[in-house]
Amino acid sequence: MVFDLIVLGGGPGGYLAAERAGHAGLSVLCIEKNALGGVCLNEGCIPTKTLLYSAKLLDGAAHGEKYGVSAEGLKLDHTRVMARKDKVVRTLVSGVNATLKANNVTVVKENGVITGKDAQGYTVQAGGETYTGKRLIIATGSSPAVPPIPGLKDGLESGFVMTNREALQLKELPQKLVVIGGGVIGLEMASYFNSVGVSVTIIEMLDHIAGANDADLVAILQKNYEKKGLTFHLCAKVTEVKADGVCYEKDGAAAFAPADKVLLSIGRRANTKDIGLESIGVALERGAIVTDAQMRTNLPDVYAVGDVNGQSMLAHTAYREAEVAVNTILGKADSMRYNAIPGVIYTNPELGAVGETEASATQKGLVFDVVKIPMRFSGRYLAENEGGDGVLKLIVDKEKQTVLGVQALSNYASEFIATAVTFVETEMPLEEIKKIVFPHPTVSEAIREAIFQY
Ligand code: NAI
Repeated sequence: MVFDLIVLGGGPGGYLAAERAGHAGLSVLCIEKNALGGVCLNEGCIPTKTLLYSAKLLDGAAHGEKYGVSAEGLKLDHTRVMARKDKVVRTLVSGVNATLKANNVTVVKENGVITGKDAQGYTVQAGGETYTGKRLIIATGSSPAVPPIPGLKDGLESGFVMTNREALQLKELPQKLVVIGGGVIGLEMASYFNSVGVSVTIIEMLDHIAGANDADLVAILQKNYEKKGLTFHLCAKVTEVKADGVCYEKDGAAAFAPADKVLLSIGRRANTKDIGLESIGVALERGAIVTDAQMRTNLPDVYAVGDVNGQSMLAHTAYREAEVAVNTILGKADSMRYNAIPGVIYTNPELGAVGETEASATQKGLVFDVVKIPMRFSGRYLAENEGGDGVLKLIVDKEKQTVLGVQALSNYASEFIATAVTFVETEMPLEEIKKIVFPHPTVSEAIREAIFQY
């Protein structure tokens, strides 16, 4: 059968593209080898947030005295936490199945491989069948990067070393967990395991955790976690993974971090192998599919959305890219912009960010001002964060008088950063933002406060 569109991959990029295209009346086939929902729903965003919510409840109760709440016999049942996580995932995955069905998308649960192009379109083989699509959207996602560290592969094979996938299936809690890589996955997983009583050590090769996030906020976040008992080894190079821990070098000296489980979280690589890209000649750069602002590849009618194009490995980026690709197919003018993509680390406190940081604005030679305020300026923050040291930073374009970026270390930062996204995306003048009424009391008011302090 010839489809108007074949979508390869059913994660956030793929399923949303299929849904939008089906909704618009195209005949759509979505090919997914595992469960619909991809990494995000099945082994990433959603399951971690489910776990982290249980950890947050536990933390809140355990440290409730300062709020006049005391609890005895407090315990977390990891098995029940995991069971609830599975239930949440099942509900959402079945929701995606139902939505695709409602939008007349044909779903094939098989491994799909592009095999070439004929007069009718691009051919894809899946489960012994050959399907043809007038257009293709490649949305095959990414996989954990596995560097050539001695012992790592063996560790992964034996189960001693986990990626996010195995960590989210863990039946029993380890006593000692070593996390290789202090980025988003490392920090979120470390946060859960630390809350539930596991001794956690993070080994990070850079001199800071949390990647390109604002250095001041990241330093406060690290201090918060050190107080909670997490150990950080920064500027540390992993040299070998042994059967009982991780060898690393720091300041020229060899060291060893004992572990009964290791989590590998040093970044992800686009899934461009074994999907037949070479059969049609899709251009790659550093292992990811090259795309333009309409998500077009170098080939006519072939698009790539989500992690596979390596632009910004986030589910919400994939969603928007999917919409841009489908709009382009439908002949509607649309373009992808990456300057206002929010990033959140769901630690406790959360780190929410959008747009330029002081460092990135400096690097780009932008002319800007910085306003830095303690989150204590917000009454709601103070009410809920006894002794909290959260901070909000606002980066202002000096000439245009618009918001270039906002970074916040605070509870609810994941939610209220969306407000800042609007300001960065629309380049709304500060004078206009000042006329907007924010609900009171909310932590989001810190953004407004920072603007008035400028
Ligand atoms: P990441 O890029 O966020 O962090 C990897 C960290 O590992 C970096 O700090 C890096 O310096 C360090 N590293 C690299 N090689 C190392 C080595 N040999 N030894 C020690 N440290 C090393 O990657 P991560 O955490 O694996 O996440 C992957 C992707 O998943 C990211 O692109 C992220 O955006 C996405 N993600 C997003 C989440 C969110 O939005 N909340 C949650 C989880 C993942």
